[in-house]
Amino acid sequence: MTQIVWGWSERLRSNYAPMDETHKEFVTLCAALSEDQADTFLTRLDALIAHSIDHFEQENQWMLETGFPPAACHQREHDTVLEVMIEVRRRVESGEADLGQRLAEEMPLWFEHHVDTMDNMLAQFMVKEALTTVPAIAPAEL
Ligand SMILES: [Fe+2]
Ligand SMILES: [Fe+2]
Repeated sequence: MTQIVWGWSERLRSNYAPMDETHKEFVTLCAALSEDQADTFLTRLDALIAHSIDHFEQENQWMLETGFPPAACHQREHDTVLEVMIEVRRRVESGEADLGQRLAEEMPLWFEHHVDTMDNMLAQFMVKEALTTVPAIAPAEL
């Protein structure tokens, strides 16, 4: 049986390159959760959690700097998924290994939905903001 391995694809690309770089890293760490090696699962999950803290903080900062209107909603999604990852970590450590498997299956679905909605909207907003805040060149300077 061929196992389908989830990974980066063009469908995940936004129009903001710094966001895509972070998302490629997220996808690599997230896909690694599916590796069939129980003894290293918590280490791989810790890496994803550490990345996600910085990743979400960076986007929260971008939202703050640009005045992104649905910032609270986007931030709440970050907080919720981070809480889920931390809770699953705690329970896997207590012996509920099957929950780790569930998380490995669910995270790609969550991420694709999050990119399609929140992150793409933020990327578009930031690109638009950057275009409208570029200082105009006075004709005398040309
Ligand atoms: Fe993101
Ligand atoms: Fe996000």
